[in-house]
Amino acid sequence: MSRLIILSNRVSLPQSQKCVAGGLAVAMQDALSQVGGVWVGWNGEQVKQEADQHFDILYKSKITYMTCSLTEKQYQDYYCGFANNTLWPAMHDRVDLVEYDADEYTTYQQVNRLFAQKICEFAQPDDLIWVQDYHFLSVARYCREMGMQNKIGFFLHIPFASLELWQKMPSGKSLIHDLCQYDLLGLQTTQDQKTCLQVCSKLLKAQKIQRDLLSLNQKVVAIRHYPIGIDVTGIQQSLADLNHQDVSPDVGAQARMKTIIGVDRIDYSKGLFERFNALADFLEKNPEVHEQVQHVQIASPSRLDVATYQRLFERFKFKMDLINHEFQRNEWSPIVCNYDSKPHLELMKFYRQADICWISSLKDGMNLVAKEYVAAQDAENPGVLILSKFAGAAEQLTDALVVDPTDRIAMIKALKQALNMPLAERKYRYQQMMKQLQAYDINDWRDHFLTDLACTQYVHRFECENTKSAVSFYPSHAFQHIHMQLENRL
Ligand code: UDP
Ligand code: G6P
Repeated sequence: MSRLIILSNRVSLPQSQKCVAGGLAVAMQDALSQVGGVWVGWNGEQVKQEADQHFDILYKSKITYMTCSLTEKQYQDYYCGFANNTLWPAMHDRVDLVEYDADEYTTYQQVNRLFAQKICEFAQPDDLIWVQDYHFLSVARYCREMGMQNKIGFFLHIPFASLELWQKMPSGKSLIHDLCQYDLLGLQTTQDQKTCLQVCSKLLKAQKIQRDLLSLNQKVVAIRHYPIGIDVTGIQQSLADLNHQDVSPDVGAQARMKTIIGVDRIDYSKGLFERFNALADFLEKNPEVHEQVQHVQIASPSRLDVATYQRLFERFKFKMDLINHEFQRNEWSPIVCNYDSKPHLELMKFYRQADICWISSLKDGMNLVAKEYVAAQDAENPGVLILSKFAGAAEQLTDALVVDPTDRIAMIKALKQALNMPLAERKYRYQQMMKQLQAYDINDWRDHFLTDLACTQYVHRFECENTKSAVSFYPSHAFQHIHMQLENRL
């Protein structure tokens, strides 16, 4: 029987004491918990040399975890280096932070090959393989070189860089070539899909055979968007299971104090300084709100072995201290910061008790926090979401207060509007956003992607005989049949 095999760098291991702050691990855990499958990736550990590197296998609640450590060199060059010092800033429009090192690129390729090799060793021909995120752009290429003919899909959780950037990046064209060895590429937004189609067709001179299908050398790649969802029902159920005591405020807020929550990894893409500056301006111009409003920031330190992130962390703490020092009085500090990553359920309680959630990303694949905040609200007294227009979630959550985080005046205006929003308007916006979240949750996202992936083989087979019939065949006729087949298999 065919299985679902997922590969991602970060894996949420069940026995791990650390909570993983990061959308990918949370989403994959939710996506896999229903259907089960094999989850391959990094176990978060480092070893001295390749000889010490081996895969451990663990089976828990329908998921087989197959993880291995990285060598110190791989950790530095692949994870800290090429993934997070080259690709991450490139994908988030931070050309000023992009560094390129040919050795790091070589190690990135080695690590991609290592995981491809592992998958190749145990995958059966009809297993569906689903590779996640920018750490593994080249895995399909190695799988193909090793002779695998499985359907291999790829989902990018972060934005897709512009054509100009790929053209400038050494090895940019080669990476795009590798990317097109997947059968299906999934992006978070329509804009990312558009950019990805443009980059692949221009750089590789691929032929566009349909709106979202490219053909290169007898190979077809489908490029689509699948906005990642959340486990809406799971969040609502877990909050309903808690008694009133559990969800009452415990974040230091006094009775009348309004709380604004922010939940972010400390990453330059999250617009943390834009938000803090807007808050400071707001406090300066509105002394009457002092001691009435508090910003609760759950800030998970992230990627601290990357110099840019270390510096950012120091600047973040300094900025927060400055604001608190300037405005604090009596027992009140305008910002309360929590650096520990919270277990998911605890985080839901924080969301539930916050009057406002403020998301200020300068560029963000989706931003799951935005969606989780809405799902965790009390339908009878929901809070308000202020959402950056640069987060992928803004494509669906149009009933949030959508702002440009670089426009400080607009940010302050949104904050005032959120603080004063009447109950009827809060309820209306909440209901509209909930409709969106329920219409396409994490299970819909997974099923939609996998159903399309299962279809792709049909396109290839047909394509060999007659490209035109392949195009009209895909996906409408095959869709229902494949979906049923997939459901039976999983
Ligand atoms: N998260 C968590 N505990 C924390 C902080 C964050 O479980 O203390 C989770 C949060 O619930 C969300 C994810 O980490 O699911 C963050 O995802 P998002 O897409 O907002 O941002 P990312 O960190 O992936 O850029
Ligand atoms: C983003 C990326 C994920 C990554 C997460 C946390 O969500 O898309 O791939 O896992 O950030 O980052 P980290 O480097 O700690 O895995």
